[in-house]
Amino acid sequence: MLKGDFPVERFGGLRTPFYYYDLPLLRATLDTVQQQLDRNPSFRVHYAVKANYNPRILAEIAARGFGADCVSGGEIRAALDAGFAPEGIVFAGVGKSDEEIRLALEAGISRFNVESAAELEVIDSLAAQLGRVAPVSLRINPDIGAHTHAGITTGLAENKFGINYEQLDAVMDLSLRLPHVEYCGLHFHIGSQILDMSDFVALCNRINELVWRLQRGGRPVGDINVGGGLGINYQHPNHLPMADFEGWFEVFRQHLKLPRGTVVHFEPGRSLVAPCGSLIARVLYVKQGTHKQFAIIDGSMTELVRPAMYRAYHRVENLTSDEPEEVYDVVGPVCESSDVFVKEALIDRCRRGDLVAIRSAGAYGESMASQYNCHPLPDAFFFEG
Ligand code: LLP
Repeated sequence: MLKGDFPVERFGGLRTPFYYYDLPLLRATLDTVQQQLDRNPSFRVHYAVKANYNPRILAEIAARGFGADCVSGGEIRAALDAGFAPEGIVFAGVGKSDEEIRLALEAGISRFNVESAAELEVIDSLAAQLGRVAPVSLRINPDIGAHTHAGITTGLAENKFGINYEQLDAVMDLSLRLPHVEYCGLHFHIGSQILDMSDFVALCNRINELVWRLQRGGRPVGDINVGGGLGINYQHPNHLPMADFEGWFEVFRQHLKLPRGTVVHFEPGRSLVAPCGSLIARVLYVKQGTHKQFAIIDGSMTELVRPAMYRAYHRVENLTSDEPEEVYDVVGPVCESSDVFVKEALIDRCRRGDLVAIRSAGAYGESMASQYNCHPLPDAFFFEG
């Protein structure tokens, strides 16, 4: 979507800031993933609901027959309401509450990705109370550092996620012994916004070692969930609107050495939904500071927290100006100095009332919005094409 392609004339009655979703791009992205799945019959995709649980977005993804990766009872409910089949829902998270576990058991989800022995015991006893057997995978901490922001790497030994290697055999034996859980496989996830495919190759090598070790010890392997993490290009959303799904799936196809027929699960979040979303905001004021010029917009860290929280870059475009570019710090109205979208960005000259698009905001944008400073949650506009 080039700058001129936004249907600005249809934004008239909408209160800014709002999320704009390009549904043709989302559908084209889902088609690309589907083509990859058609080529790799043992691969399954579970969309990571945390990236965006707007009901309309969820419904688009559910309609493709993809599964859902959920991290709370609320996400499981949102996935079910949007039409995801319970048999395609997997449930991860280090701190699943009893209520959430019961909900998942009653819904008949396909997998609990278990992160500790203590959690395994709780799932077993709650499943016993409900007369069920819970299908479980063990989430392993692979101790792999992904080349991404420190706040979004999850596969290092120092992170809170997963079961570490030393405990794996004991936790697996426990899962085989407990009567109300059924061991089904292994789960991994090394981090997010990963563009360096060698990180995923390292993950494959770790998985191969582990599978070999389990087989040698006479233990079962089951299926393998490699998590999500595929990054997108935030710098050039117009030229590169789609993540490299082909390269990503190819890494696992080439590098995983698994028993024939082993099912491999993927949990993409960002790569499916980030490119199709933009936060649309209005310029309130242009202000000259001592050393710089500010474009103060009505969108803020309450609608899109990523720049404030991770110093993440999102490209900003002025949709209603064709005047020569100037340099701006684009900032929001929230009373925090971190409420900055971008510093020293070249943007077509801004005037009060202009509409700007903060691009690639379809993932971890609306889903992380808050009401800080009593801001209302943003609305969404769906472009149908
Ligand atoms: N599976 C698990 C177990 C996860 O923890 C995550 C993301 C995913 C899959 C999906 O990862 P993705 O494909 O979206 O990279 N709020 C941060 C990202 C946090 C990611 C948390 N886990 C951000 O705005 O960059």
